[in-house]
Amino acid sequence: MKFEFLNPTHLVFGAGSLSRLGEVVRAYGKKALLVTGGGSVRRNDTFDRAVSSLKAAGVAVAECSGIEPNPRLSTVLRGAGIARSEGCDVVVALGGGSVMDAAKAMAATLFYEGDPWNMMTGQKNRRLPEKALPVVTVPTLAATGSEMNGGAVITNEKTTLKSFVTAGCLYPRAAVVDPELTLSVPPDQTAFGICDLMTHVTESYFNGVDGTPLQDRFAEGVIHTAMEWGPRAVSDGRDIKARAQVQWASVVALNGWVQIGTLAPYPVHMIEHSLSAHHDIAHGAGLAVVNPAWMRFAARTRPERFAQFAERIFGLSPQRPDDSEAAAQGIDRFEAFLRSIGCPTCLSEVGIGKALLERYAKDTLLVAHDADGRLPGRPSMSEADIVEVLRSAL
Ligand code: NZQ
Ligand code: ZN
Repeated sequence: MKFEFLNPTHLVFGAGSLSRLGEVVRAYGKKALLVTGGGSVRRNDTFDRAVSSLKAAGVAVAECSGIEPNPRLSTVLRGAGIARSEGCDVVVALGGGSVMDAAKAMAATLFYEGDPWNMMTGQKNRRLPEKALPVVTVPTLAATGSEMNGGAVITNEKTTLKSFVTAGCLYPRAAVVDPELTLSVPPDQTAFGICDLMTHVTESYFNGVDGTPLQDRFAEGVIHTAMEWGPRAVSDGRDIKARAQVQWASVVALNGWVQIGTLAPYPVHMIEHSLSAHHDIAHGAGLAVVNPAWMRFAARTRPERFAQFAERIFGLSPQRPDDSEAAAQGIDRFEAFLRSIGCPTCLSEVGIGKALLERYAKDTLLVAHDADGRLPGRPSMSEADIVEVLRSAL
């Protein structure tokens, strides 16, 4: 293993920490662009409490509301325009992953010359952002880990491509992570978030380089924690202990710790992004469909890795040297867990038919491909492979 690692985000975690928002933001600016989604934060008292905390700390507020799930490029431009005209010097993201991603992209767009879509992976003339307004994240949904990473996922509604940018300047300066804010998340979105955080670690577990035993254990720890506490958060949304454990797992799942040294590409995510770009489905729901199908495909070339997963996660006993049976059973158990918490596991359940399978595969490869034009992963995938995986999920 050989790596460098830096995650500069100051994490403030715990029930009630929203009250510290103003004190945290004041260190970075005097006027905040407060970015919010479609209204969930106004349906409870989260928005009012955030504004009170900011104002009490002497931070003025300009609002950019209405960030849609799977946030659009035009929304990023709108928010950057508000920040510019209002003279904001800090951005506060109060919402789910969509709000946080849009807020990061807005913060960078302010300093970016030209079309901000050129920041995104897959663009021929790609240029990473080098500067952004400071961002403070306040997640209201446990899922993406965007609160403590340097990534943003944006959809270009003109081309129906969903892509991502990862850059040092996009790391939030601080993340105020208050599990109480997730108490109002409905069961379906709670389950999708659990699937998302689990998929973040299965991606690195199955696609990373060999010889990362500690990272394996980190990933397995996140999965066990999600499987222990996730069902409780789904069945009783008011269970603050369960909400806190799920949210902590979601932070750890994609703040970089689990992935250190694995150099893992994220093929399941790349495929899912094409689905949510075209059909506006919840990211975690799309992953619940794609991940088991992808696992069955990938297990053919590396059954021993999937047998390890089956053994360590589900306590199954591989009949070595033939690992394929245990590998298949482990994937079945994983899929069954996703179903048990209310996730869809086939395309028809998210309203997707077979008409555009080739198109999703082509779009996936437009965003992410290696020198041979294949989707990076273990194994790397051709367009036909991606279509095969999606067809198996119909
Ligand atoms: O928009 P509002 O009204 O806030 O409602 C949202 C939205 O309808 C609702 N919600 C959020 N917090 C709530 C709540 N409802 C009730 N109570 C609350 N406390 O949940 C719905 C979904 O929100 P969204 O932000 O879209 O979900 P999520 O957090 O799953 O974010 C998904 C986006 O993040 C990207 C995905 O591709 C997708 O665009 N990702 C970002 C990543 C990153 N930056 O690291 C990594 C991920 O793998 C992912 O790709
Ligand atoms: Zn994800």
